[in-house]
Amino acid sequence: MARLTSVARKIAAPVLRPVWRRLWAHIEARVGPIDARLGALEHGWRQNIPAFLNAVNMVSAFGRDLRRQGNELTSQGQTLLDHQHALSAVGGDISRIWDRIEFVRREIMYEMAHGPGSRAAAPEEKTQSRTLAPEKVAAAAAQGALRVNLGCGHIALPDYINVDMRDLPGVDVIAEVDDLPFDKGSVDEVFSSHLLEHFPQEALRRRLLPHWHAALRPGGIFRAIVPDAEAMLAGASAGTYAFEDFREVIFGAQDYDGDYHYNMFTPASLSTILEEAGFDNVAIAAAGRRNGKCFEFEIVARRP
Ligand SMILES: C[S@@+](CC[C@H](N)C(=O)[O-])C[C@H]1O[C@@H](n2cnc3c(N)ncnc32)[C@H](O)[C@@H]1O
Repeated sequence: MARLTSVARKIAAPVLRPVWRRLWAHIEARVGPIDARLGALEHGWRQNIPAFLNAVNMVSAFGRDLRRQGNELTSQGQTLLDHQHALSAVGGDISRIWDRIEFVRREIMYEMAHGPGSRAAAPEEKTQSRTLAPEKVAAAAAQGALRVNLGCGHIALPDYINVDMRDLPGVDVIAEVDDLPFDKGSVDEVFSSHLLEHFPQEALRRRLLPHWHAALRPGGIFRAIVPDAEAMLAGASAGTYAFEDFREVIFGAQDYDGDYHYNMFTPASLSTILEEAGFDNVAIAAAGRRNGKCFEFEIVARRP
């Protein structure tokens, strides 16, 4: 077997030799340039590695710098926010001080206009109250139905004690509406129609509503009809409500002393005033109701 192999080698050797040579030449031709390229690559790498490392350092330094600037910006933003909060707190303080100044100003003006020594408070200018129908008042009180119609004018109501400062037909009690001759807590209903707008808002808030609230029994009803400023303003601006009617209703007919209007209301504004005066169950019974030259609303509330 060994001889056979050696003979086969001898025969194959001359055939295989040129094949090997060509194969080797081919490998050398391929590997030689790769080797050269690897060498060039290694050379280039060695030359460029410091620049590469430098670039890496620069990038990370840049990143650190960015992070630091970001932190600084965040803290500056926080400082700005702090300033903003401080400013809005100062704004709140200023607005509270301003409210306080306005409150004191209103107190002083009210005292000058209505306080002791003012013309409005002069007793000789006030109507002294007189009960013209004492039996009617006593009967109503006995029945637990003491209902008063304040500022009744020419419209006296049969089931009510009609009160006005003017001695007109049907008036049962001549009195100022802020000086009623009824015991506190004795009145079942305080009704008025087209009266509230005859008083400045401060007089209504400070004098009249507290007086009527005190006159009512607990559970007693406050009911008022007043010009509806909201409906009239809407009609006037839409051109559906005559300017002359609007003007007269806003300022009053001005035919006699006391026929001047000093205030106007919307359902919402009067509701707020009544709630502030201690009434509850405030409800609007009617709104935008036409009555002659006027649009009116009717409001009902309860003394708790
Ligand atoms: C516009 S009239 C309303 C009359 C009637 N209630 C109506 O619905 O037509 C206002 C009335 O309130 C009366 N009045 C005004 N101020 C008053 C006061 N301080 N005390 C009593 N009555 C007053 C006036 O004399 C007048 O009769």
